[in-house]
Amino acid sequence: MTDPAPRTPDHPVDPAFPARWSPRAFTDAGMPPADLLTVLEAARWSPSASNTQPWRFVYGLRGSTGFAAIAEGLTGGNRDWAPRAAALVVTVAQTEGRDAGGNPRAQRWAEHDTGAAGLAMALQAERLGYRAHPMGGFDPAALHRALAIPEAGHRIMAVIAIGRQGPADLLPEQHRPRETPGPRQPLAELAFEGRFGG
Ligand SMILES: Cc1cc2nc3c(=O)[nH]c(=O)nc-3n(C[C@H](O)[C@H](O)[C@H](O)COP(=O)(O)O)c2cc1C
Repeated sequence: MTDPAPRTPDHPVDPAFPARWSPRAFTDAGMPPADLLTVLEAARWSPSASNTQPWRFVYGLRGSTGFAAIAEGLTGGNRDWAPRAAALVVTVAQTEGRDAGGNPRAQRWAEHDTGAAGLAMALQAERLGYRAHPMGGFDPAALHRALAIPEAGHRIMAVIAIGRQGPADLLPEQHRPRETPGPRQPLAELAFEGRFGG
């Protein structure tokens, strides 16, 4: 479907970047397991510090007990729309690994690398005709418990809802007005030559 307000970049970029966005209205179409594996595979090829690959994913396709457990861990307004998605993926940063001697070692860039993997997932999902919507609105303790994610050395970063986008009227009334791609600050406010500019 056509985005209601296409975003125009300030500088020429691959159209995939401004075309990606995070809607909430998903149709009830399912996602074949092979498509979800393709999305996860894209994440696997992300860069990471010293190639530690500190991302871990726990996923569920709608209708499975895993999906229900993830959906149950969502909070606030996310509970209104995300359970309609075709798949939910929990992204986890392994913030602690082991050195060559088997001793614990902090993985200083685990969160950075897991975020990069999340974007790879979103872009691959879009290539397959899906949309992906990351969420920080979840109960970490509930997800650690329900999904057996160890507390030590593991930080849950996001839950990503993936599905086929549908019309805004699939959403409960209160979510419809913001069903539009978000704007961006000008690049000049974000990128500075040689010296940090605030
Ligand atoms: C880490 C993270 C947490 C987010 N948490 C939520 C959330 O809990 N609920 C929600 O509806 N959207 C959430 N979002 C989506 C953002 O609001 C959205 O990405 C942002 O407004 C930019 O819009 P766009 O992705 O459509 O370009 C989150 C995004 C990120 C990256």
